[in-house]
Amino acid sequence: MIQFLLNQDLIKLEAVAPSLSILDWLRIKKGKTGTKEGCASGDCGACTVIVGDKKQGRWQYKSINACLMLVGSLHGKHLVTIEAVSKTDFPQLEDLHPVQKAMVECHGSQCGFCTPGIIMSMLALYLNHQTYPGKLAAIHALGGNLCRCTGYSPILKAVEKCFEYPRADHDWQSATQLLENKLIQSATPFLVEQTRHFYLPQNLAELVRLRAEMPNTRLVAGATDLSLEFSQQLKESSSLISLTQCQELLSFQSDQSGIFIGAATPYSEFVGEFCKIYPEASELFERLGSCQVRNAGTLGGSIGNASPIGDPAPLLIALNASIELTGKKGKRQLPLDEYFIAYKTTQLADDEVISGFYIPPRPANLTLACHKISKRIEDDISAVCLVLALSTDDSQINHARVALGGMAAIPARAKQVEQALLGQTTSLVTFQTAASLIHQDFSPLSDVRASSDYRIKVSENLFTRIWHENFGRIDTQAQSLTIQPSATRVNHAAL
Ligand SMILES: Cc1cc2nc3c(=O)[nH]c(=O)nc-3n(C[C@H](O)[C@H](O)[C@H](O)COP(=O)(O)OP(=O)(O)OC[C@H]3O[C@@H](n4cnc5c(N)ncnc54)[C@H](O)[C@@H]3O)c2cc1C
Ligand code: FES
Ligand code: FES
Repeated sequence: MIQFLLNQDLIKLEAVAPSLSILDWLRIKKGKTGTKEGCASGDCGACTVIVGDKKQGRWQYKSINACLMLVGSLHGKHLVTIEAVSKTDFPQLEDLHPVQKAMVECHGSQCGFCTPGIIMSMLALYLNHQTYPGKLAAIHALGGNLCRCTGYSPILKAVEKCFEYPRADHDWQSATQLLENKLIQSATPFLVEQTRHFYLPQNLAELVRLRAEMPNTRLVAGATDLSLEFSQQLKESSSLISLTQCQELLSFQSDQSGIFIGAATPYSEFVGEFCKIYPEASELFERLGSCQVRNAGTLGGSIGNASPIGDPAPLLIALNASIELTGKKGKRQLPLDEYFIAYKTTQLADDEVISGFYIPPRPANLTLACHKISKRIEDDISAVCLVLALSTDDSQINHARVALGGMAAIPARAKQVEQALLGQTTSLVTFQTAASLIHQDFSPLSDVRASSDYRIKVSENLFTRIWHENFGRIDTQAQSLTIQPSATRVNHAAL
């Protein structure tokens, strides 16, 4: 059995299909149709709901896509739907909640189909901020919500406006306290429907035991990739092992020996700290999916999926990260660039899980450049993702790692390019000479995202851009050629 709150109601569930999404449960089983289905693939945000989780003694709320997140992962959590935006949950309200009132006053809704999802994304931002956090934070909060008729200016104005009204805070304390009391008494949670189970191991030992006993049972973390098999390809799932409550996989540690990121830690829970050490990676993470996707998606899911177009792999490979795999024989570590063997084929053994990632300490004099080429800024998959990490000694390159996604069947290093950089000075000629070797490292495919020629050309050109952004001032002393490194667009720690 699993237990969670739906708005103020305690829900106990036992017989539910492992692949049932929160959206289908709400609409079909509970008749709560305020939450809409647009795409069922995480792209439109019509299904946005808020999920609360008690962390470090306090309930924290974030927006997620109900079409992707699975009901089983709600155990111990607080699901807040559009129906809660009312006087029952926000007792100070006389009529509309400030986020609703602002949408009305700013004309933020026309046909209204996207509106419940937009209200929930606005509410998540509102719950996490006492004052308007600025336009960039508003854009990031709403980057995963599409509106086909209103236009985004009135909606963004409404985000600002809702903070101008008297504050309306929720009254969820007695409901969350009730849930906490119930959880103390509950046994290990799971769901079962006929022979299909949704397991929720609470620690690594339990997870490894289940994995060893049932090597064919799929693992699931944020479900932002896996759920597409159910919602788009209409595949039936057998049992699933969820990693979302396995404590050892939900951590971020940083000290002099480097960084450890637990494989099932959602992006939004570690990116702020990570980007204090590697601010150059901010934009890559800000542009990974949408706010809703980053609130659920994990590094373990990205690398576990072994997609050649995932954005984290080039970054981790360029930073010389190792992957930690845990199985019945214990833990082993290997360099991430050796983990990928061929398209969707990796070194992961049947009894293993990815438990985390180690990133060595930031080297002195590191220049890190991260570039994602995609058709849209928000919520789009890369055509090419290029990450370059190099260190210099008296402007001579003594360490160079260049990793790309979207250029081959696996994320991979550009080894010829790296060789051409090593030992050279950081001149434009060095960068352009190295870039001209990209075609020796990769023969990319043409697909819907980009042609093979485009992928090669844009990768080559990125080297010129990276040089101007990082070394232009040193070599040219010419103001016209000096481009400042891209500014960190949003302070994640403040979100
Ligand atoms: C709308 C949308 C936009 C997206 N945009 C981007 C983007 O811009 N950039 C990008 O890189 N990705 C993007 N993604 C892809 C996805 O969000 C990421 O790959 C995410 O990191 C997947 O993590 P997850 O926890 O949700 O994975 P899940 O869906 O839970 O799992 C994915 C796969 O990995 C396996 N797996 C999960 N955890 C482990 C583990 N610890 N050990 C072994 N195997 C494991 C699962 O069995 C499954 O096969 C997008 C997805 C959506 C829906
Ligand atoms: S229905 Fe479109 S994101 Fe969920
Ligand atoms: S108001 Fe019609 S889709 Fe947004």
